[in-house]
Amino acid sequence: MSDWREPWLRAGERVAEQYGRHYGEPADALPTPALVVDVDALQRNLGVMVAALDGQTARLRPHTKVQKSPDIALMQVATGAIGVTVASVWEAAAMAAAGVTDILIANQIVPADKVSAAAALAAHAALTVAADDPRNIDALSAAASGAGTEIGVLVELDVGMGRCGARSAEGLLRLAERVHAAPGLRLKGIQAYEGHCMSVPDRDTRARMATEAMAKATSALALLRREGLPASTLSGGGTGTYDITGRNPEVTELQAGSYAFMDAFHGRLVPEFEVSLTVISTVVARHRDTVILDAGRKSIGIDYVLPPMLGHDYAARFYAEEHALFDVDERFGADVGDRVHLVSGYAPTTVNLYDAIFAVSGGQVVSVWPVFPRGPGHGGFLTSLQRG
Ligand SMILES: Cc1ncc(COP(=O)(O)O)c(C=O)c1O
Repeated sequence: MSDWREPWLRAGERVAEQYGRHYGEPADALPTPALVVDVDALQRNLGVMVAALDGQTARLRPHTKVQKSPDIALMQVATGAIGVTVASVWEAAAMAAAGVTDILIANQIVPADKVSAAAALAAHAALTVAADDPRNIDALSAAASGAGTEIGVLVELDVGMGRCGARSAEGLLRLAERVHAAPGLRLKGIQAYEGHCMSVPDRDTRARMATEAMAKATSALALLRREGLPASTLSGGGTGTYDITGRNPEVTELQAGSYAFMDAFHGRLVPEFEVSLTVISTVVARHRDTVILDAGRKSIGIDYVLPPMLGHDYAARFYAEEHALFDVDERFGADVGDRVHLVSGYAPTTVNLYDAIFAVSGGQVVSVWPVFPRGPGHGGFLTSLQRG
């Protein structure tokens, strides 16, 4: 019997076959480079976010493009998230296949093959997508009507990032009216992602910018409501603004994602979250005060910040394909064959390099979670969704 969840089920089997033998092993015995998450630190991060949103209007809809792990998404839902945010229709399919029932694709669904996949997927989970183009709205409507499903839509407003989104409240209103009138679609509200504020180092400046950005969204929301449109959702925010946008009484959904793993990029902005994700790497050479590790840019995301070593203050000199070079001094005790933990420069591009995350507690591997879907191009889901 065919099963539309087949690509996800196969990924689970593949990971169990290739990595299952490490269950119960000490993390220190894993072949390096190895992607590991400290489950206890991860749980504490999830708890900090839950506590931060306690009593706020905003509910957590964590962005799972960071961890690409349906297993972790299910943990987030179990601790109070209303559903998840994803970046692509393939990530949405993986989440739905694993049992997540409420999914926002915070992105435009283009071209036609992805529109068809979204329409088919809406039969298996409550699916909402972002839209900022009338032609795309028409295509989504035709596909959902044809498939006999309903797709929720957040019309997207650009609040200063300059990426996707209508450039004015009036433009947004026209999109919202079109969605409201379209068969197969249900207007839910607005997506407004204030990404240009996310990495502003000074907290006060970040707060001022994020507040200004979200004021554009709340005034657009008021316009839609004055025109009688059923716009109840305002979705946005990230790890850098979780305690700014997340406390805005008009914001109903917070899309933060990086807080679960953290990385060197976000660590500077929100030090209250712990690094739970690291790459274990082996020292392969030491020449006086130059240390060479077996993890290069094929093993760890170097975007924005060169990955540092956990617990050390040495700056990385260079990341090559298969090597990292650090300038150390006499305080550095590790020698050839010893291991260090590296902190991702950027967690999303680190995770995307691996098939699996080793979940570690008390130094032992307690689980192995598939990273799925990795990279672009998961047409297998399109085929399996069309088969039903
Ligand atoms: C649409 C959208 N929402 C939310 C986020 C927040 O992610 P993070 O918490 O990882 O900063 C991102 C990050 O790229 C995003 O693109």
